[in-house]
Amino acid sequence: MCGIVGFVGRKRAKECVLSGLYALEYRGYDSAGITLKIGDGYETVKCAGRVSALDERLRGVGSDASVAIGHTRWATHGEPSERNAHPHESKSVILVHNGIIDNFLSLRASLAEDGYSFKSETDTEAIVHLIDREYAKTKDARLAIQSAASMLVGSFALAILFCDRPSEIWAVRRNNPLICAVGAEGSYLASDIPALLPYSREVLRPHDDEILCLTEEKITLYQKDGTEGALSFETVAWDYEMAKKDGFEHFLIKEINEEPEAVSRTARGITEGGLPDFSGIGMSGELLASFDSVSVIACGSAYHAGIVGRMLIERLAGIPVFVTLASEYRYDPPITAGNTLVVPISQSGETADTLAALKLAKERGAHSLGIINTVGSAIARESEFVLYTNAGPEISVATTKGYTTQVASMYLLAIALAHAKGRLTGGEAREMCELIRTEVPRAIRSIIDRRAEIRALAEEIKSAKDLYYIGRGSDYAACLESALKLKEVSYIHTEAYAAGELKHGTLSLITEGVPVIALACDKKYHDKMIGNIREVRARGGFVILLAGEDLEAPSEYAERVFILPTLEGIFMPFASVVFSQLLAYEVAYILGCDIDCPRNLAKSVTVE
Ligand code: F6R
Repeated sequence: MCGIVGFVGRKRAKECVLSGLYALEYRGYDSAGITLKIGDGYETVKCAGRVSALDERLRGVGSDASVAIGHTRWATHGEPSERNAHPHESKSVILVHNGIIDNFLSLRASLAEDGYSFKSETDTEAIVHLIDREYAKTKDARLAIQSAASMLVGSFALAILFCDRPSEIWAVRRNNPLICAVGAEGSYLASDIPALLPYSREVLRPHDDEILCLTEEKITLYQKDGTEGALSFETVAWDYEMAKKDGFEHFLIKEINEEPEAVSRTARGITEGGLPDFSGIGMSGELLASFDSVSVIACGSAYHAGIVGRMLIERLAGIPVFVTLASEYRYDPPITAGNTLVVPISQSGETADTLAALKLAKERGAHSLGIINTVGSAIARESEFVLYTNAGPEISVATTKGYTTQVASMYLLAIALAHAKGRLTGGEAREMCELIRTEVPRAIRSIIDRRAEIRALAEEIKSAKDLYYIGRGSDYAACLESALKLKEVSYIHTEAYAAGELKHGTLSLITEGVPVIALACDKKYHDKMIGNIREVRARGGFVILLAGEDLEAPSEYAERVFILPTLEGIFMPFASVVFSQLLAYEVAYILGCDIDCPRNLAKSVTVE
């Protein structure tokens, strides 16, 4: 949440920072701002709204600036307005911030006593005055940052300009992402990889409380004790092309189109000779066999992937699985007994609640396996073992391939646990892995190829005020993700219900014409689902039925039917959720919604 970018060097800093802000817009789009070093002074331009509005305001300004810092904001403290937009400035310091400062009120009070006045409602303004106050004491930038950071409670990634140090950008982070790189034209820093990909794939990730000084020629890293530390760069596997729209109108539809290959890549990444092989990530068969329960922690769609995973692991490996929202876990973790494997799931690898929950689980002595997309991210680094989903960069705020590759990873974990525990033979495990590698991607592709049919359904539901997804078992797990997708991108109120729960309250909401999307993909529940659908239709509900080819005479049961390619029952959530992702896209498209950047949301939720 919030994207920060900085550049110091020979190139046009404005261009470089603006392109970085565009690349990071998925992290927040409430306001945007930039400070440019122009001549002997600094010019700050900011505005409410998107980076494009900032770009507009910057026409003809600072094209030859060689130093700049910029920010794209997801508002936490203070409304999204120009006044609250970053950069914020003090007498001799200007900075941009990603994060939240918990003790900002007491800091503001103390700074006000020292004569500082505040122009915004943000927590960030307390930081800039604090660093200014510390800097005035010694004129030592590193010491000022270190001393200010020691007084901050919360999370932050900061890019800082000292007005009397015109060729330097300083930076520090704690519990928020920050990476930097040196390219041919100068030094760069950013919250996330897509902003740096046009310039370098060699990135440095400072640890918490390490301080960086960037100049045109080099980066200097100061460790917590103030001594200079060695720079260790890692090569990013993604390239610039992967982070572009590639001819698609939106990242969301581009990323849906990437799902077949992404899911196959997830499976290829962890299989050896056709079997899931976790030894490559340090988990032996003996270790896998030793777990007697699994505890999944995640948020949003990743939590939904965990719920699919629970069903798989319990069914295949025969051990209990607890799936807990990370925001709940961190304050009220479930009691687990025996040898529990804790599994944080996160596309970004930066979600604050998931990271905090993982830290707590580790303090309680659990082994941890992170299911993560972003290599080197905070949760990946905190996890004892990491299974990378290999989805590639995901830019759309609403996740698609991020989710399906998380689900694929959970299948692979379930298969590996079951095989290690002797509940699946090598042959059975190999067959399931092969299905994920080949048949599931084929099924997903065949749904993507039927976009026109899905668009026609979208036309029929576009005016709905409320919509319900219903299903049982793994179909219910798929309903949870399907409902989230539709509501977050189209703003149509959508809920998911376990179909058996309808008559315990929800049926009162079903009136003439209310659309209900019923998933009857798992054969095990066909009869029960048909009963529930009848109940809905008897109250006037407009039913769209999703089923595999094995449901007989489906058109008898619903106003509309969409037959999904039949996969073995437990694999059907791949098919039904991809249908729902496309439906959400088409509805949002017809309604003219901002598909890649839905209102009020942002990707990579680095604040609690
Ligand atoms: C919904 C969505 C979010 C994320 C959630 C967790 O489309 O993208 O619900 O799934 O914020 O994010 P990660 O997986 O990055 O931890």
